[in-house]
Amino acid sequence: MCGIVGYLGRNSAVPIVLAALKKLEYRGYDSSGIAIYNQDELKIYKEAGKIFELESALPKPELTMSNIAIAHTRWATHGEPNKKNAHPHHDKLKNIALVHNGIIENYKQLRDILCDHDDQVEGETDTEILAHVIGYFYNKHHSLEEAVRASLHLVEGTYGIAVFCKDNPKQMIAARKGSPLILGVSKDAYFLTSDVNAILTHTNKVIYLNDNEIAVLNEDNYLISTLDNVPVDPEIATIEWEASSIEKNGFKHFMLKEIFEQTTTVRHAFRGRLYDSMATARLGGLNMVPSDLRKVKRLQLLACGTSYYSCLLGKYLIERMARLHVEVEYASEYRYRNPIIEDDTLVFVVSQSGETADTLAAMKEASAKGARVMGITNGIGSTIARESDGGVYIYAGAEIGVASTKAFTSQVTILFLLGLLFGRMRGISPVQGIEYIKALRKIPAQIEEILKLNDKIREIAAKIKDSTNALYLGRDLHFPVALEGALKLKEISYIHAEGYPAAEMKHGPIALIDENMPVIAIAPKDVLYDKIISNLQEVVARKGRLFTIITEHDEQIEAMSEEVLIVPKTLSELQPILTVIPLQLLAYHVADLRELDVDQPRNLAKSVTVE
Ligand code: AGP
Ligand code: GLU
Repeated sequence: MCGIVGYLGRNSAVPIVLAALKKLEYRGYDSSGIAIYNQDELKIYKEAGKIFELESALPKPELTMSNIAIAHTRWATHGEPNKKNAHPHHDKLKNIALVHNGIIENYKQLRDILCDHDDQVEGETDTEILAHVIGYFYNKHHSLEEAVRASLHLVEGTYGIAVFCKDNPKQMIAARKGSPLILGVSKDAYFLTSDVNAILTHTNKVIYLNDNEIAVLNEDNYLISTLDNVPVDPEIATIEWEASSIEKNGFKHFMLKEIFEQTTTVRHAFRGRLYDSMATARLGGLNMVPSDLRKVKRLQLLACGTSYYSCLLGKYLIERMARLHVEVEYASEYRYRNPIIEDDTLVFVVSQSGETADTLAAMKEASAKGARVMGITNGIGSTIARESDGGVYIYAGAEIGVASTKAFTSQVTILFLLGLLFGRMRGISPVQGIEYIKALRKIPAQIEEILKLNDKIREIAAKIKDSTNALYLGRDLHFPVALEGALKLKEISYIHAEGYPAAEMKHGPIALIDENMPVIAIAPKDVLYDKIISNLQEVVARKGRLFTIITEHDEQIEAMSEEVLIVPKTLSELQPILTVIPLQLLAYHVADLRELDVDQPRNLAKSVTVE
């Protein structure tokens, strides 16, 4: 969600920041803009819509020559997504340009105190008020750094900001509280970004700003300090991801590429973590010795969206494998609910990005209550990775498609490893442990088999692409899979879809079933097989159109279904990693056949960094 890019160096800044800004398109945005210093003036260009609209609106290159630039993709929180409200914003005298991610909660009070008249404010954003406040203090102190500090002391809310002033076009200032901001350092330039993917082609040396820190970048040096001016000695991290991981590599969309990557990403999630001789899992990042783990009596898994569904699956897995209580909760609810945390509760926050605002807030709430909080994330160096007490990286590589796919299967793999780890301490025998390990090692090859169904799945997609509703049914471990399948369809094809436990259908949603309703059912051959067949009969009896995912040929189901997809069979605990893949492909093809913007669906952001 929303993106910041800044450049200060010796080259022409505009092409660099525009290229970097495009790498953030996947996060979702509604408008974009850029501020530069050219011919002794601060110049700001902005447009509603996509970045190419901004590019087309820029004047000829000599009028945009600049060695400094800040640019932004906005995801509106306050004020319509139009040109006027797009960032950068400037102060009254047009000395200062500001881009901002986050929300200035007390912007109305600030406006009343500091801006002379409302009429100098052009739009409705909270950010514009902050630009005026910084301008106000700049006129008093004549130092941009002082002005930024003074302003941020007054701000309530969250921000990642980048600012510069036309009186010193060799200086840029950045600050962060609750919204990610990263300083990239290369031989001849400094970069600012809210997402490291934007600058990887220029440098892999980065400094993650912490909350309440300010970075002052000058032509040849930078200084980081706290808001209260205590110097900070920053750690320079090296990012291992290849810049090529954020290319489509011949696939039509990132989402499709990421679905196909799951043969490797699932392997990356368990690689080096299987401890064959002890028939268990090794998760060193938890920083907990076996006796600490043994004391845990309850897990809380907190997350949003797809990550929440992987947690829900984690509950089924861990309770079954380890007989350990697991509570799963939406991070957005948890943070305001005053949750109960006992001494023997261990909290996990699960997030692909590691930057979701609600999940961060839940993490803080649990930490403030004294809980030990672990992170499961893909975001190397993300806020969750840095601020949790330990955790596990899923190592799925950059996920660019807004609809999360490979992160889901990798998260589930990690939760399975947790089930194995806790399970081996609480009842799983070595023989059983080895069986789990062997089955897990086979999963990547089984995913490969499922991907061969791609063409068939596209044919099925063609049959349901004009529906207005869809129902996804699954039982037991496949209920969260049904929820995830429905979410995928909703997100990218805008078809209303619901996931339901198959047996619950008769308590309500059955009323919706008629000959126009596609029902996508997951019916693996397991202990609940006969039960789910009865549920599916109920669909067919009401003329619902049944599409079924099964694990072996079955005449009865094939006769009832318009189409079946057969996926390889594995242990029931691992089966969801396989059954979810056809659902990801189905959602992808439906959206593609509807000619929708698969990678950047409307209204959505890749990482929701505001509350
Ligand atoms: C997934 O397809 C969604 N776009 C969304 O629900 C996402 O899973 C959610 O916002 C959580 O993000 P996170 O994993 O980065 O915290
Ligand atoms: N609250 C600001 C706005 O609505 C920033 C939004 C964003 O983070 O993109 O303009």
